[in-house]
Amino acid sequence: MGTVHVIDHPLVQHKLTMMRRKDASTNSFRRLANEISALMTYEVLRDIPMQEIDVETPLEFTTGKVIDGKKLVFVSILRAGTGILDGMLTIVPGARVGHIGLYRDPKTLGAVEYYFKMPGDLQERDVVVIDPMLATGNSAVAAVERLKECGPKSIKFVCLLTCPEGVAALHKAHPDVPIYTAAVDRQLDEHGYILPGIGDAGDRLFGTK
Ligand code: URA
Repeated sequence: MGTVHVIDHPLVQHKLTMMRRKDASTNSFRRLANEISALMTYEVLRDIPMQEIDVETPLEFTTGKVIDGKKLVFVSILRAGTGILDGMLTIVPGARVGHIGLYRDPKTLGAVEYYFKMPGDLQERDVVVIDPMLATGNSAVAAVERLKECGPKSIKFVCLLTCPEGVAALHKAHPDVPIYTAAVDRQLDEHGYILPGIGDAGDRLFGTK
């Protein structure tokens, strides 16, 4: 069975509660989403590979550890993934960015791809797929499936919020992909919204309601 990392740091939890408030403005919702995702990035990248390099301090030569940000790829699931991308890039500015666009076919309810743009050499890269909401899991499952065709070194999934149904769906299809989230809420409603949730993340991020 796959793993779920719930990042329960007080700062993350505080900001998530602020995002839940229905009267949070677009401006503050967007700012909070980026702040949480920046904080979560510390935990998400805790085990990334490091290398030792030579470094000259003002006093002597030594060695130090560095991460290779260019080997990391943040893959944003459009459109809401964009709302947590900047926060993660503030922590790893050298990361590459890929985008996947998926829409839900109204007849089959399956995820249909309309856009897929990745950096080259994905086989040499560690991928972090990002989408604020892991709800039914349909787009996450389809995005990971598509990425696996490119054979990256590893794949992680980061969201702000999920629910037992979303976790189960992603883990059933991709038990090798760990999930990082700020909270696992109670349930999905009949329209695919997470309860108690934060509402429609895309609409709240971009003020499109
Ligand atoms: N997508 C959202 O934006 N919100 C939900 O609650 C579920 C899916």
